[in-house]
Parts: sequence; C-alpha cells; structure tokens
Amino acid sequence: MYYPEELVEEIRLRNDIVDVVSGYVRLQKKGSSHWGLCPFHNEKSPSFSVNGERQMYHCFGCGAGGNVYTFLMNYENYSFPEAVRFLADRAGISLPEPEESEEARKREGRRARLLEVNRAAAKFFYYQLRGPRGEAGRRYLENRRLTEETMRRFGLGFAGKNGAELVEYLHSRGFEDELIKEAGLAGYSERHGMTSQFWNRVMFPIQDINHKVIGFGGRVMGDGEPKYLNSPETPVFDKRRNLYGLNYARTARSGNIILCEGYMDVIAMHQAGFTQAVASLGTAFTPQQATLLRRYTDNVLLAYDSDGAGVKAALRGIGILREAGLTGRVIDMKPYKDPDEFMKALGREAFQERIEQAENSFFFEIRVLEGQFDMGDPEQKTRFHREIAKRLCGFSEEMERENYLQAVAAKYFISAESLRRLVVSYASQTGLPRPAQRPRSGVQRKAAPEENAKRAQRLLITWLMEAPGLYGRIRKYISPEDFTEELYRTVAERMFRELEQGDFRPAGIISMFSEEEQQREAASLFSASLPPMEAGQERDKAFRDVLLSVKRNSYQCHVAQMGTDVNALTQAIEGKKALEELARTHISVD
Ligand code: CTP
Ligand code: MN
Repeated sequence: MYYPEELVEEIRLRNDIVDVVSGYVRLQKKGSSHWGLCPFHNEKSPSFSVNGERQMYHCFGCGAGGNVYTFLMNYENYSFPEAVRFLADRAGISLPEPEESEEARKREGRRARLLEVNRAAAKFFYYQLRGPRGEAGRRYLENRRLTEETMRRFGLGFAGKNGAELVEYLHSRGFEDELIKEAGLAGYSERHGMTSQFWNRVMFPIQDINHKVIGFGGRVMGDGEPKYLNSPETPVFDKRRNLYGLNYARTARSGNIILCEGYMDVIAMHQAGFTQAVASLGTAFTPQQATLLRRYTDNVLLAYDSDGAGVKAALRGIGILREAGLTGRVIDMKPYKDPDEFMKALGREAFQERIEQAENSFFFEIRVLEGQFDMGDPEQKTRFHREIAKRLCGFSEEMERENYLQAVAAKYFISAESLRRLVVSYASQTGLPRPAQRPRSGVQRKAAPEENAKRAQRLLITWLMEAPGLYGRIRKYISPEDFTEELYRTVAERMFRELEQGDFRPAGIISMFSEEEQQREAASLFSASLPPMEAGQERDKAFRDVLLSVKRNSYQCHVAQMGTDVNALTQAIEGKKALEELARTHISVD
C-alpha cells in the first residue's frame, strides 16, 4: 500500500461517486441509480449506471465497473496513487508522504534504475549517431528521407561496432553489470566479458506515454538478419501494453489514431504531420493495446502493409478492436507497400484523402472474403453469401445488423430479403450474441476447466455482492478457503468478515489492493452481471449450482494436494459428505 488503508477509505467516502462521475459524464437519475452514456465504449443509448448507495458504477454494455478510484484510473489514465492524490485534493484532505512497504519500495527503486539506465543508453546512442563514428547511421537515416528534426524528436541513435563502449560508458555513469544485463542492453560471455546487445545498428528508443525510454529497437542498415533487434521484456518494458509513438499521438487531437505496423511507418507519418500514428512493438497488436487506445479515441484507422501478411494482420487487428468496443477502418495503401513508401511517393495530401476514404472494417473483411471465392461458380457464390450471413450475426444490435445487411446486399447485388432469411436461419442455429456478455477485453476462447472454477468463484462473489442477505443462508457451507484463486480468497476473507460484522462495504474492497492489475480484477468482480434468468426456482437452482461448483472445485483441490496424510483424508471424507448434503439442500434466493 502506498497510503494507509483507512486513509484511502476515508478519501473514498468523502468523494461521492455520483458527484465525481458527473464531472465527466452527463447523468440522469432513474430509480436508485444515475444513468448516462458509457465513457468507456461507444454507445448511443445509456447503459452506464452509477449507484450512489453502493458508491460503484457499472456499464451493462461493456462490463466496465468499479469504485470512484477505478473510474479515475480508467478515465484519466491515473495510477492508483495518482487517483488517491487527486481525490484527496478534491476533498481537501492533506496526505502524508506515501508509506510504502519495503518490497514495494524495492520494486519501485528497481524500476526507476531501469529507466535511468535506459535513458543513459539512449543518450549514448544519440551522441554516437551524431559523432564521427555515427557516419554510417546518419547516411542510412538520411537516405530514408528523415530530417534532422525528426531524428531528434524520436531520439534516434546509433550503436557502433565496438561492443564494449556502451558498457564502459554505463559503468562510468555508475550503473552496475547486473542492471545493464537486466535492461537487456548487454550480455556477458566468458570470452568477451560484457558486450553490447546492439551492434552496428540504428537505434529507435521506445518510449512510454510519459516519454520515458522503456526499451529499444535496433535496425540493421541494409539487408541483414534480423532486421530489427528489440530489447527483451523487463519490469519496465511490457510489449503488450505499450505502443510506439503514443507519447506524441495521445495529444495529437486529430479525432482518430492511426495504427501502423512498424517503427519506420510511425516516424514517416509523424514527419508528414500525422502525429496520431502509433505501432505495436515488434509483436502483433494485442487486446491490451486496444484497451489502451480506447482511452484516447474510439476511431482507429489501420494503416497496415498492403501485402498478404499485412491484410492478415489487419483482419486480426479488426477483431481485437471490435472486442474492445472500437470500430476500425482500413486505409488502402495501394499501390504502395506501407505508409512510409506511400508518403515518400505521394505525400501528405494524398494520404489525407486515403484517410477520408478509409473502408469500414466490416466491408474490408467481406471484400477480403470475396477474393477467396469464384463468383462465376454458383456453389462458391452461395458459400460466399452464407459466410456473409454468418458474419452479420455478429452484430448484436438489430438496427446495426439491418443497416449492414442492406448495405452489403446492395454492394454485392444480393437480394436483401433472401440474405435476411439466411441470417435468421443462422441466428436460430447459433443464437445472436448478447452485448452484455462480451468480455471487457481479450479474445474469446473456449473455457478451460480452471477457468470454469474461476468463473464459479467470481459468480459466487457477484451473487453475494448483489444480495448480501444470501450470506446468512450459506455461511455454514462456505469459507474463504473454498476460493482457490488467491485474489478471490483475499476478497472473500474481507467480505465475509464484513458481512459477519454487518458492515459490508464493497466499494472499499476494491481499493484494498495496491497493484492496479489486482484492483481492476477486484472491480470487475463487483461489476460483473449475473446471467439473466427467471425468478424463483430457476434462480435458486442457478445459485446452488454455482455454490456447488465452488465447493466441488475446492474439494478436488484439497484432495489433489492431500498426499497420504491421515488428517487430510478425514477432512476429504467430511468434505465429500458436506458436498452431498449441499446437493440435496434447497437454498432459496428470494
Ligand atoms: N519487427 C521486429 N523484428 C523483425 C522484423 C520486424 O521486431 N525482425 C517489427 C518491428 O517493430 C517493425 C515491425 O515489426 O517496425 C514491422 O516490420 P517491417 O515492416 O519489416 O519494418 P518497418 O518498420 O516497416 O521498417 P523498414 O521500413 O525499415 O522495413
Ligand atoms: Mn514496413
């Protein structure tokens, strides 16, 4: 914890969530909640609710939810301590110096040192490029038409042929071998001692949104392999959660963000004035990056390479954007390969036109699909139409589905009537997706057994949160130890304790975690929605099934860990009996 828990709680209680959220979202009171348009996804009718009694918010559209801290962390992109400071200030509470655990301080110290050594290395590369030995690098970058100003803005540098120099420089700056290795800047070998990881390459420092250098990409000058060498993942370099160029793009205020494939594309785009361009970091675009983008825009344009691999990557990217609630459009780069080449050949105005003509991602998908069928063959043509119908089923909102249906029917000369019939037949086979069940991020996968166990534990907590009165009815069956997921167990311990004491404060439970990841997970626990179901018998059964599933998993885990201990065996037998009893018991939810 950065700040004492009681203080965090006091600050939370002194900042009414309805007031705070009202500063960002126009809310209207309806029943016991306030409603508005969700700021975390794109929507036209309000599904975002703020509950003053519980001091929590929840979006029934995208599943976002949490307490007043989580709101600011998501909306303003604050870290937890930043959100605490902001709200303390807002409530006129003065804060002591943050109190950190030994461990947290060490971890922070380590991160700070990694950022320092990266910064020193970036500086070294930067001066190398501009010095006598950087001649080759300078020539290379100039040949690629980069201006002096662009090179400066992106902090481009050069790693020379002498692999020991960087290490010597870093030593002279007081950085020790351990740290240099951890940062992935140099490696040790018996033969050569410490030598630089990057050798004879032009260097692209990779910055986070606060302009801190978190890693490097190094490019060979010419045709060598590998083309790019990237820093390994470190405690400060998470490739899935950062985007190249976002430190500038986030303030570009252009109404969109352009997602490219490569570092050079981003740089060429920025040089041409499109400072809203970003790229992923040597790996494919990730759901985490989509979530990150959603903080800045709901309009993402894909400027991927026009070759086969680029099209494939764009299709993947579109899916990920869609999962995150973002609509993507695709920029056509033809006849050029990528934004870098396009810019060199046709320049800024032509690209601006391409932005305006960018293709809706659904039409892009259908167009790529079309290329896989021979339209002269009735059999293949039918398959193409079926595939379109299948994809139309992906739209959960009827109006949107119908609009796409009509547009695509007109475009491909299909009768809207028969296409609609196809869609209905597909939907009746497989069902239409329900918007509220879309996970907040991440591509949907088939649930593994441990995910089912996790899901049951989560659901049980959500049930108890929605109806704390249930606790009295099940307390003799359940204990925190039944939660095999560590985070859920911690939540259950506190929740059960508060319920026993008749002082249950769900919003406070979220901020008991100091790691942001954990907070987000805890918040999602409290804002998940229960599957829709009829009242009465069906609800009772659903609840008992969840409880049983948690108990069964707990029992199985205990048996698995048991070994030959006699005590444990007794416990297992008792557990089995309890399970059987529970299976016969009727628990009424209402
Ligand atoms: N990449 C990588 N390692 C490689 C090749 C590519 O990490 N061996 C990553 C880099 O992030 C690169 C991106 O994939 O920026 C796109 O690759 P590519 O299109 O080949 O590179 P460009 O950035 O377009 O660079 P250039 O214009 O110099 O070819
Ligand atoms: Mn490229």
